[in-house]
Amino acid sequence: MEKLALKTPDITAQNVDKVAQLFPNCITESRDWQGKLVRAIDFDQLQQELSPILIDGISESYRLDWPGQKRCVVKANEPTTKTLRPCREESVNFDETKNIFIEGNNLDALKLIQESYLSGIDLIYIDPPYNTGSDLLYNDYFAEDKEAFQELTGQRDDEGNRLMSNMASYGRFHSDWLSMLYPRLRLARNLLRDTGLILVSIDDHELPNATKLCELAFGPQNYVATLVWEKGRKNDARLFSVGHEYILVFAKSLAALKAAKTLWREEKPGAREIWEKFVELRSRFGEDYKTIEIGLQKWFAELPKSHPSKKWSRYKRVDKNGPWRDRDISWPGGDGPRYEVLHDKTELPCKIPEPGWRFATPEEMQRQIKLGLVEFREDHTEPPFRKAHIRPIPEELEDEPLDDEAEEAQTEDEFATQVRGSYFYKQSQVAVKYLRKLMGAKVFDNPKDHFELARLFDYVTNSKADARVLDFFAGSASTAQAVMQLNRQDGGRRQFILVQLPEVLDPSKKSQKAAAKFCEQMGKPGTIAEIAKERIRRAGKEVAQSSADIGFRVLKIDTSNMNDVYYAPDVATQENLLGQVDNIRPDRTPEDLLFQLLIDWGLDLSLRIGEEIIAGKKVYFIDGNVLAACFDTEISEELVKELAKRKPLRAVFRDASYKSDSVKINADQIFKLLSPQTEVRSI
Ligand SMILES: C[S@@+](CC[C@H](N)C(=O)[O-])C[C@H]1O[C@@H](n2cnc3c(N)ncnc32)[C@H](O)[C@@H]1O
Repeated sequence: MEKLALKTPDITAQNVDKVAQLFPNCITESRDWQGKLVRAIDFDQLQQELSPILIDGISESYRLDWPGQKRCVVKANEPTTKTLRPCREESVNFDETKNIFIEGNNLDALKLIQESYLSGIDLIYIDPPYNTGSDLLYNDYFAEDKEAFQELTGQRDDEGNRLMSNMASYGRFHSDWLSMLYPRLRLARNLLRDTGLILVSIDDHELPNATKLCELAFGPQNYVATLVWEKGRKNDARLFSVGHEYILVFAKSLAALKAAKTLWREEKPGAREIWEKFVELRSRFGEDYKTIEIGLQKWFAELPKSHPSKKWSRYKRVDKNGPWRDRDISWPGGDGPRYEVLHDKTELPCKIPEPGWRFATPEEMQRQIKLGLVEFREDHTEPPFRKAHIRPIPEELEDEPLDDEAEEAQTEDEFATQVRGSYFYKQSQVAVKYLRKLMGAKVFDNPKDHFELARLFDYVTNSKADARVLDFFAGSASTAQAVMQLNRQDGGRRQFILVQLPEVLDPSKKSQKAAAKFCEQMGKPGTIAEIAKERIRRAGKEVAQSSADIGFRVLKIDTSNMNDVYYAPDVATQENLLGQVDNIRPDRTPEDLLFQLLIDWGLDLSLRIGEEIIAGKKVYFIDGNVLAACFDTEISEELVKELAKRKPLRAVFRDASYKSDSVKINADQIFKLLSPQTEVRSI
């Protein structure tokens, strides 16, 4: 029972909480007037959050700090004028798919999708470079230019003179890595739903920093777990064979997960196969459960030791609800209720278990007996036991009393479930071999195992059928395949958004040779992004028979579609103010402009695009009437009127596209009259 506070609320603490929700990185620890440690605001940080210029000043507090941290804040908050240009030729099912592949730097990508997916992502998985310094296909070494770093840290002045005699180099590596990741994590956080999560793969090199960094970006109160992924022994190790790595799990808000009564469970691996065997036997032997039991027990005995179902061979009894095992019928912890329960054959009171009965009342016990969930022994001298079915019926899920909603969610499809431990094993070679076979060459170092990712994604999203998953360090696109795999398994409509830099492959380097050759054979530029896109195409073919969305829209980051004048109206001449100079770069297509509109208005980048000819001009309609845009020149009043009659939510024309100035002036009026709710804009 909660104790009464018997004092008024601590308003300062409440205010600190409010700031923490907006800026989790601005929270630190400080001593109050009684000398007690309390959560407090780091005003330096807060000031930096609210300022576009670098703020100087140091205050003493407990926090992760490194040279360049504040610059990260400026970097993350700075706007970008870049844009996303669609590339139909490289996409698959461009018009229907909901999946997105962004080619470019993830810092830009995260900024560009801020509005479109604000609080709209269920799960972020990232596998950033581990900063090992190893010679890998991708850059795994973060050392900013040495001079620049020393200048930044005050070890050298602007002219390059050394200011300190003993210049630290250790920090150089970690600081650069932290500065790389931090702005991205900050932007990523905004994209998560309140109940969303981020999973960060990392190894020993940066685990301590990564943990602290995630605490800074997401708040220490939102830490969930550090998973250990054992990948196998390295026998050539000198001291210890460190064959594992980690996955850090942080919630956007652990409080929101708790409020939603979130419970993560997964099907016991191998349980489904037992059920399938039962169904097969039932089709042969009908309701002869004894014979089905014999058949099932024989099947268990013949399974190889490594088979996942072998572990569940206790589910060897069968009744109308399927295979079951026995379990204890006593009150957990002792001191449970004691009442009379008559044996079904001897009709004498059964022995009461030492801790008392599991069910609080004799009525509940009788209900369970009637449901066939209690199994009596030979006679009354031993207590009966309860049945646990491999596919539990709602009445036997007694541990957490289910509310109505949870009971409804208990579908036909649910199997015995388990909570996952924080350790799991899957050899790294499985994924390496799989990818090599799929691509016909060794095109990527250390791909993640997409089956393991799928299992994890399913677990932390509670099998949400339309979960949106983001990975902004896509590499070979294992995340895309994991998402497609899950959709294939359960017919879901999950969506992926991937970001990958077109990191150039150097064919002269041993580690990159095969990948570079692979791209060359495809007739594509030698970049990791090309490898990733091809992996998705090939993986899609593997699941093509299912209803899973195997398409993806390729969007490439590029400079703005608009020329510089657009952003600097102060330097505009009288001429272009009148709209006679086109603001749009000549190499840009109408679809390029459409995507810029989607970004600007924060609309989903996977919305359907339709086209129609109206009054002789091409008009694009996004998702029906979400947005209508015409970029043709010489547009007439007739077109404006026709469009206004369709009452789109938003309408866009090109500045230089009106037939005459009077059409331009009238356009606004026409919309005001015919469709006042339409937001009309020009570019
Ligand atoms: C460790 S790998 C990811 C591997 C991936 N999980 C897989 O299973 O294939 C990291 C990837 O991030 C990419 N990367 C690094 N910096 C990036 C950036 N700024 N923007 C986008 N991608 C980046 C690298 O090119 C590399 O492919």
